Amino acid sequence: MVPTVEWKDGAVRLLDQSRLPEKVEFLDCRDYQTVARAIRELRVRGAPAIGVTAAMGVALGAQSLTATSYDEFARGVTAICEHLAATRPTAVNLFWAIERMKRTLAGLRAQPVVEIKRRLLDESQRILDEDIAMNRALGRHGAALVRDGQTILTHCNAGALATAGYGTALGVVRAAWEQGKRIRVLADETRPVLQGARLTVWELMQDQIPVTLITDSMAGALMKSGLIHLCLVGADRIAANGDVANKIGTYSVAVLAKAHGLPFYVAAPHSTIDLATASGNQIPIEQRKPQEVTSLCGGPPIAPLGADVLNPAFDVTPAEFVTAIITERGVFKPHEIADQFGS
Ligand code: MRU
Repeated sequence: MVPTVEWKDGAVRLLDQSRLPEKVEFLDCRDYQTVARAIRELRVRGAPAIGVTAAMGVALGAQSLTATSYDEFARGVTAICEHLAATRPTAVNLFWAIERMKRTLAGLRAQPVVEIKRRLLDESQRILDEDIAMNRALGRHGAALVRDGQTILTHCNAGALATAGYGTALGVVRAAWEQGKRIRVLADETRPVLQGARLTVWELMQDQIPVTLITDSMAGALMKSGLIHLCLVGADRIAANGDVANKIGTYSVAVLAKAHGLPFYVAAPHSTIDLATASGNQIPIEQRKPQEVTSLCGGPPIAPLGADVLNPAFDVTPAEFVTAIITERGVFKPHEIADQFGS
């Protein structure tokens, strides 16, 4: 897989996901404002990927600061952090990564600015490397839940594209495939932005893992027909009680899975777990522009001009609908998450 995000020649290089699957294009961000815009415009998306990108954005912004004293430099970095944190509200990985960069900065007060700049860049690279390692680990844990010959329904894109590499839900798929299990993925198209159709199908086809595209509304009938054996999705934020925020439409899949007696698994690294948020009711849900609903990926209108539109980008699946959460530390029931990940 081509890298979703990387530090390249003094810039943050992003695979521009808004152009996929038509074009594989890269966007070289040479200032942190461009990084922030790329996150807001979904050129890079997926909870872990935006966390990694924001960390690199902080490091990038820090390089261009001219301050020579720690206090002045720290004020500059704090402003960059605030700018990047204001891009998208739901995925907690964004705030987790920014906080980690702030902690790194705070621990370097005694160092010269030139050294702090270098260490911030190192830390952002560490966040990226750790993300891939966590995905590989959770992939191995999750693969044990997938049997040879099974068909997996997924929603949105929780793949290599949504992370620094390998993927969460699709990390489990990759690990099962690498173990030689003959599996197949059904990808919900994922209206309105079509991350399933554009991204999940693309990345699985790149790896020659069998994938079949369906529209979101087909999931229930296909579950009833016995075609689907389990559901596997990623997460943008997991609250302390095990409620899961993920792409809009995930809740419907979970309810359908329960109605058909199918397991519904969520795969996520610890950077997605937010123990400071008690339950899903407190997770902020991003509302996006109506144009995402009134046309398909910027194409001609599919609704009357001036139509009233709702466009929440995420929903919350209550813990009772989640069979288990697959993490890099193992597979847990939703109510076990707080104990497992509490410090
Ligand atoms: O709006 P997006 O494309 O950023 O939403 C992404 C999702 O909802 C993913 O399922 C989630 O971030 C998990 S990615 C490993």
